[in-house]
Amino acid sequence: MFDILSKEQISQDFILLKIHAPHIRHAKAGQFVLLQLKEHSERIPVCVFETFDNGFSCLVQVVGRSTLEIKEEGDAFYYIAGPLGKPFPVGNYGKVVIYSKGWGIAPAISVGRALKDLGNYVKMVCLDESLSHLLKREGFDEVVYQENIVAYSGFDLVVSVGSNMLSKILSQIYDSTPHITMPVVHMLCAAGLCLTCRVKSGLACTDGPWFEAKEINWEDLLKRESLYKEQEKLALEEYKKSLLRKQLREEVEYGKDAHHYQT
Ligand code: FES
Repeated sequence: MFDILSKEQISQDFILLKIHAPHIRHAKAGQFVLLQLKEHSERIPVCVFETFDNGFSCLVQVVGRSTLEIKEEGDAFYYIAGPLGKPFPVGNYGKVVIYSKGWGIAPAISVGRALKDLGNYVKMVCLDESLSHLLKREGFDEVVYQENIVAYSGFDLVVSVGSNMLSKILSQIYDSTPHITMPVVHMLCAAGLCLTCRVKSGLACTDGPWFEAKEINWEDLLKRESLYKEQEKLALEEYKKSLLRKQLREEVEYGKDAHHYQT
């Protein structure tokens, strides 16, 4: 088992987990892990945010059954696979602008730090101000929060992560600038076997997760985003009901105990 050392609520939908998992401590910027809470839980891919002596931290967006279960009942993970995927191709690019949406802020910061350490000029553009807390302690050259997508001139590399729609739009407006992106895909095996995570030029789990944006068929990915929506919705509703039943049981038990205590 891999203990959750801390669970910090970053905003309404996001929690930052610090996890004891020594095998992940050497993860490089841009890599990810598969988290499995219990023996029969779904395995979810999550980007590594930071590493430390005995483990790592990651940002989890609470959107479905598995992530709500981690938030409500997670004390330790049954299984953690990783580090997975190829690290971000860190190099001397010059001026880099990094766009992130939602959970994408975690890999954006970790990649931004590695690029900055090499001497690149790094501008961070964050589309969720509610996550600004995470960026406050960083030393990037520029930080911008904005709701709309704005293009900036004079950059040698564009990086985008956290939303297929965001990356698709950026690939159109920065059509002559190199653009590296992490496409959002479903992953089941993360070992190159199930092909669920295929993108035009390879598999996100083994060849990615970072690709040149022009190599991605964004229309196809956007269609596939909703493939499992119905099952995910049902699983979430079922889990919320089970949480409610558990809560009621505990209230009844507590009521009984209180009654015994009084009598
Ligand atoms: S998740 Fe199965 S091949 Fe990538």
